[in-house]
Amino acid sequence: MSAKLRLYSGFVLLVYVTGHLVTHALGIVSLETMNAGLRITDPPWRSAPGTVVLLGALVIHVGLALWSLYRRRTLRMMKQWEVVQLTLGLVIPLLLMVHVMGTRVLGEVYGVSGDYFTTMIALWVFKPVYAVQQAALLIVVWTHGMIGLHMWLRLKPWYPGARDWLLVIAILIPSLSLAGYVSAGMEILELAKIDGWVDAVLSSYGRIPSMGAFVGDMERAGQLVAVAVVALVFIARALRSAVAARGRKTATIRYAPGDRLVPLQHGATVLECLRAAGVPHLSVCGGRGRCSTCRVRVENGGEYLVAPDADEQRVLDRIGLSGPVRLACQIRPKGDIRVAALLPPEDPSGAMQTVRSHRGGDEVTVAILFVDLRGSTKLSEDRLPFDVVFILNQFFAELSGALAETDGHYAQFNGDGLMALYGLDTDIGTACRQAVAGATAMLRRMDALNDRLADELSEPLRIGIGIHAGEAIVGSMGPPATPIVSALGDNVNIAARLESQTKEFGVPLVMSARVAEYGDMDASSLTMREVPVKGRERPVRVYSVVEPGNLLN
Ligand code: FES
Repeated sequence: MSAKLRLYSGFVLLVYVTGHLVTHALGIVSLETMNAGLRITDPPWRSAPGTVVLLGALVIHVGLALWSLYRRRTLRMMKQWEVVQLTLGLVIPLLLMVHVMGTRVLGEVYGVSGDYFTTMIALWVFKPVYAVQQAALLIVVWTHGMIGLHMWLRLKPWYPGARDWLLVIAILIPSLSLAGYVSAGMEILELAKIDGWVDAVLSSYGRIPSMGAFVGDMERAGQLVAVAVVALVFIARALRSAVAARGRKTATIRYAPGDRLVPLQHGATVLECLRAAGVPHLSVCGGRGRCSTCRVRVENGGEYLVAPDADEQRVLDRIGLSGPVRLACQIRPKGDIRVAALLPPEDPSGAMQTVRSHRGGDEVTVAILFVDLRGSTKLSEDRLPFDVVFILNQFFAELSGALAETDGHYAQFNGDGLMALYGLDTDIGTACRQAVAGATAMLRRMDALNDRLADELSEPLRIGIGIHAGEAIVGSMGPPATPIVSALGDNVNIAARLESQTKEFGVPLVMSARVAEYGDMDASSLTMREVPVKGRERPVRVYSVVEPGNLLN
């Protein structure tokens, strides 16, 4: 609920800011045009309902951001983009204060209403440092908003296809706005050279000499309040930690391996407590309940835990875990507890490591392809082992040739098949098309291989391919000496499920509808079906495909 409120309030603020920036851009034409634009865009926000909506959105957005900052048990798990967005968000009130005081509070207190002429005189003629400050505000606010918008939209199927255009718009709007703002500022400076022009404009506005000092005083007061509120949040966090530290004697997490004693912080998850105490514990998805790698066996103190919620239960069901096994990132013990890690911690042995910096994050939107050789048992039944190895090596050579020609990344080998990833270095739309091209190349190469080995084979080699797309944890995994970049997560499991579904549908390829959407493919001639997937409430919509090459025309 609070995430939705934060999103909606942010959206309202972004609409307001966008209108403001577009109005600024009119300054490229002239100050008068910019002012005319203001007379259209500003009144709705100055009306009583507009003020309530704008002010309400601001209070909700800032309030929820501060609440979320308070609730985080540790800031160590924040991602880079979160740090940037939060920092920009904290800077905004400091830069914004003079704008609010000069354009809204001043008008309310002195009963005057200004326009771009008066505002630009105040900024460019009387206080050029404010003119620069407001340009910085524009960049900070816009960047903050764009990060939020991107993180919201990135999971929408249509987004990858539209991303480049949206990026152009996201750059164009502030660039034109800044250009208009500077151009109007230059115009004001020229007009200010005319004797008596500034005084004439300001006296028609009803200027009172004390207004400048009023704005300055209010700006400083507002900034102080903003700094105090943020400081209060950090003080509250520190107090909470201090209280938690005092409770150390009575509430602890006993953690194995190592039998370490970790203070239990009130309301914190086991993973957060371990992180705060500097105890390494594997958490590939960063504590978002999506990977299960943080799982622990609860050896004591289970009565201090509430039952798994639907999200945690879904993950536990998915991997068939039950009994005292729980996700460390989801449980918030209310008393002493003893847990044992079920997977090695992130590093010391280096046995399993994740590449968190891969494409700027640990979670990457990729296309996942699984391919499997049909009837491999029968293949080895009537042949000498060396013959089977010979045939399989030819088979894998063709698969890797197909991957090489379509920019696929080999990610896993399973005896008679493999998993491949597309999209490690490209956008998801291209990745999906490459994956379908990869499937096409595999089938073509299988035909050629069957022709070549016609004398060796009693029946042609056949393969089944499953393709799905979505977020997955991508990282370097495997034995320390020979790790490979592979992927984990629900979407990987779904791709594997679709591969096995090819047997039931009797087709060489089953791909999810999401692949066609991401890749902008025309699948209108295909029949859509639904495939149930263990652990998911809703089935996955799929297409069974006989000729994947047709999808790329
Ligand atoms: S860290 Fe991924 S589920 Fe807990």
